[in-house]
Amino acid sequence: MTLPTTRIPDPNDAPALRWGVLAPGGIARDWTAALHATTASRVVAAGSRSLERARAFAADFDVDRAYGSYDELVADDGVDAIYVASPHSEHHDHALLAIEAGKPVLVEKAFTRNAAEAAEVIDAARAAGLLLVEAMWTRFLPHIDVVRRCLEDGLLGDVVAVEADHGQLLFPDGPQRMADPALAGGALLDLAIYPIAFAHLALGGFTEVRATGTLTDAGVDAGETVAVIGPQGAVGTLSSTMRAKTPCAASISGTAARVEIDGWFYQPNTVRLIDTDDRELDRFETPRREHGLAYEAAEFARLLTAGATESDLLPLDETLRLMQVLDEIRGQLGVRFPGEG
Ligand SMILES: NC(=O)c1ccc[n+]([C@@H]2O[C@H](COP(=O)([O-])OP(=O)(O)OC[C@H]3O[C@@H](n4cnc5c(N)ncnc54)[C@H](OP(=O)(O)O)[C@@H]3O)[C@@H](O)[C@H]2O)c1
Repeated sequence: MTLPTTRIPDPNDAPALRWGVLAPGGIARDWTAALHATTASRVVAAGSRSLERARAFAADFDVDRAYGSYDELVADDGVDAIYVASPHSEHHDHALLAIEAGKPVLVEKAFTRNAAEAAEVIDAARAAGLLLVEAMWTRFLPHIDVVRRCLEDGLLGDVVAVEADHGQLLFPDGPQRMADPALAGGALLDLAIYPIAFAHLALGGFTEVRATGTLTDAGVDAGETVAVIGPQGAVGTLSSTMRAKTPCAASISGTAARVEIDGWFYQPNTVRLIDTDDRELDRFETPRREHGLAYEAAEFARLLTAGATESDLLPLDETLRLMQVLDEIRGQLGVRFPGEG
């Protein structure tokens, strides 16, 4: 028994797009560095709430145009697509701003604060016939396609159990947005979304979701463990915390074999195929581990050039279902964000 190969092309082979970065913060910097290092695409414009910050970003990444407002950015005719990299609380408004300006849009994870906001953004993009993709970058990585093919080919037998965790030390001394309910902070939307999306892929959805966790004094979740059941009766154990770095490992176990992804499963990594006697049968080594954020941008460029309006690797209906799962978990944990209906 051997692992299938990946079907994900090299990002360098994708068509070139002219990107506009909306909200040039931490991830926008990593994303732009990856884009420029490993694709033919370029960020040609940056929009910030502050012209000074837009100019600083533009200077650092050799970007042609800097705007002191997001409105000016989305109105730029020389921009093919917008990357929304603001906090979760702002994704809904910023994605709609881009869509209303007629721009295809890649929206950082978690897609929005809640499913109602996600449905509005998805409906708007569909009505406008514009490409819309959630920037859940893990879905577009080569090693995850190897896992996807194992599931499609039935290599593992019947899938019985999924385990995944994601913990980072980001609280109490980390970024303010993690701690702030007004910015839809907490571990769930930022970190737990990775193991949850991984299990959703492995199980093909959830029929039951049970969460327990702890909240910060401000009322966002510090961490949680989520038990899920898939439509075929498989179980998933998913956990997350923003108070410690955890192994960040993931595995899918079936009646015939299991796959394990070594630490930091959500980044480009190694997949190992292990039989029921615990012998390693095969392994897939990701060819290049740096600049993994380029894969989602390359997928977006291929889709836009082909005239597609969503990605088969993460369809919009699944993005919406994932937001519904996050809503369900927040309900069970007792987390509400200010201003939610
Ligand atoms: N894919 C990944 O690996 C990854 C990693 C980290 C984060 N993320 C995601 O990326 C998004 C942003 O995270 P980040 O770590 O880059 O955050 P960040 O460093 O705080 O940057 C966010 C930017 O959003 C803008 N912004 C707009 N409205 C804001 C508001 N009300 N409050 C604060 N900032 C506001 C700010 O830029 P201006 O004011 O200059 O416009 C700010 O610099 C989140 O959705 C997060 O989950 C993804």
